[in-house]
Formats: sequence, structure tokens, C-alpha cells
Amino acid sequence: MKRMLLLVVVLAVVFTLVACVPSQPAAPAEPAETEAAQAEQPAAEAAKTYEDLTIGFIQTGSEGGWRAANTASFKETAEQLGINLKFYDAQNKLENQVSAFHQFNQDKDVDVIILAALETTGWEEVLKEAQEAGKVVVLEDRRIDAPDDLYVTYIGSDFAEEGRKAAVEMCELLKDSEKKIVWELVGNVGSSAAKDRGQGFREKMGECGIEITKSQTGNWSITEGKQVTEAWLKETKDVQGIFAQNDEMGLGAIEALKEAGLVPGEDVKVLSVDATAGAFKAMLDGDLNVTVECNPLLAPQVYEAALKAVNGESLPKWVPSQEGVFRATDANLQEIADGRKY
Ligand code: AHR
Repeated sequence: MKRMLLLVVVLAVVFTLVACVPSQPAAPAEPAETEAAQAEQPAAEAAKTYEDLTIGFIQTGSEGGWRAANTASFKETAEQLGINLKFYDAQNKLENQVSAFHQFNQDKDVDVIILAALETTGWEEVLKEAQEAGKVVVLEDRRIDAPDDLYVTYIGSDFAEEGRKAAVEMCELLKDSEKKIVWELVGNVGSSAAKDRGQGFREKMGECGIEITKSQTGNWSITEGKQVTEAWLKETKDVQGIFAQNDEMGLGAIEALKEAGLVPGEDVKVLSVDATAGAFKAMLDGDLNVTVECNPLLAPQVYEAALKAVNGESLPKWVPSQEGVFRATDANLQEIADGRKY
């Protein structure tokens, strides 16, 4: 009986041990089986580099020194980075910009579209088309009025802030003048640069009693800036300051003032925006009092943003440029001018 009991205990222990032994690992799959399984898994996509990018760039045109520097920045930087750049000059015509946008949307090679918009409105249709075509859209220089989910980011100036700075500087220039009548030469009227600079100037000008008695477009050009100022001067010479929304129009106004027998910079204070080489020369000649900087050298930041977006990174909707103010009274003006790129 005892033997039987012992036998039962031994058998129970043996069964328990057998049950606890881990099962054998499965035999390795046949090579063909493994390859087939891998083929089903999508391979993780390698991050794109600048050399992989084809970018369609829609420029406004070539209206002056600021724009020339902006274009050069995009062309030179694309070459340095190995980006394939398809550059389009819209010759300051909105319809050209819109049709170039349609073409880039349809161009299978184009990954990214960069737009410097002539006007703030009228972009929703092409932006939606771009989204459907899977294009990354980056705005440079000019903001637009459109839902911000239709583009990745806007990299450019705070134009309203430039206008506010201009008003503060004009107040300083006219602080000893009893009358503070200012004429405003406006850029291309539908552009964000013109709208926002005008608005920013008006926000601050009241603080010292500036009154704008004349305001008209000079379309960013020396010739038109001169013509408009000439016409005004025929009506009256009662003006203490001219606020030109870019340097070219300021240079045109300076010519008109001289031809009318007035001394620009003294009889009439002249302030413009951009800080181009032409403005520095005019300040060194004593004709221009102040230029508010607007940075055109945006390409490195814009291309970096485009690459990040292509690789799926999300970006802030606006990256404002850092900008200063230069005055004819600055001690080291020549040195500053010599060190600038545009
Ligand atoms: O958008 C920037 C503006 O465009 C510059 O101030 C002007 O000169 C240019 O044409």
C-alpha cells in the first residue's frame, strides 16, 4: 500500500515538472515567409533634405532696391542649399501671381510654394487647390487675409510696427515745429505692407499732434513718388513732414522738394521705410532724416521652415522679422551703410 502511495506521489511530481517546462520556441520562419511579411510593412520614410526640394517661388516683381535684395536672397540661398528653385516674377500683376499659383499646384515636381502676395485678398481658391494637391505653402514678406490652416507659416515684417516706429520718429523730427502737417506716400494700396504701415502710423501720430493732410499711392516707385509730391507742391507748400512708405518714394519726394526750391531734411523732414543703400546715401547727403528698417533677407528662415513642414513639423503661424531704425544723425552711419547687404 505504502509503495502504491509513493508511486502516485512520484508520478504527480513528474507531471507537474513537465507541465512547467517552457514550450520550445517556434521554428524560424522560412526566408520567403519573412520577406513577404516585411513587404507588407511600409518602410519608415527618410527625412527630406534641401536637395530633395523643388520650390515654386511667386515674387511680386522688381519694383526697387528692397525687392532686388529679397529676390537675390532667395536665388543665392537656394543655390547654396541645393534647392531646385522655380522662380516666377509676376511683374506686379495680381493675375500673373494667381495663374503662376495654379501652375505650381499642377506641377508634380513642386513640393513647396512660396508666395510674396501683391494683395491681401483673393487667395482662398488657389490655397485650397494647393492643399488638395498636397503642396506646402509658405508666405514670405507679405501677410494675406485667408484662414491660416491654408498655409504653413508667414515669415515677414510687422508692418504695423514699422508704421508705429515711423510715427514716433516723425514726432521726434517735428518736436520743435509748431505745425505738424505730414503728407503720406502710400505703397501698392492692396498690399499688407501699405495697409499696415498706414494703420500703424495713424495709431501713434496723434500722440504729438501730427495731421495727415494728403495721402496717395506712389506705387513703391521713385517716379510716381516724385510725380505725386510735385502735384501736391503745386497746390501748397504748407507741409512739415513726408512719410514715404518705402525708400524709393521718399527719394522721389526729395527730388520734387528740391525742384520746388525747398530743402529736404530741413524745410521738410523726410522719413521712409526699408533701409536700402539708396536711403543710406540720401541720409549721408543730408536729404533724408530717417529710414525704418524692413528686412528683405528672409530666404534662410523661409527655406528652413519649408523643409521642416515637408518633414511634418508644425510651425508658428507667423515669424516676425527683427528690425531697427536708422537716423541721419547716427554717429557711425557710413560704417553701418558699408556693412549692409542691400
Ligand atoms: O513688402 C515690402 C515692401 O515691398 C517694401 O517696403 C517695398 O519697397 C517693397 O516693394
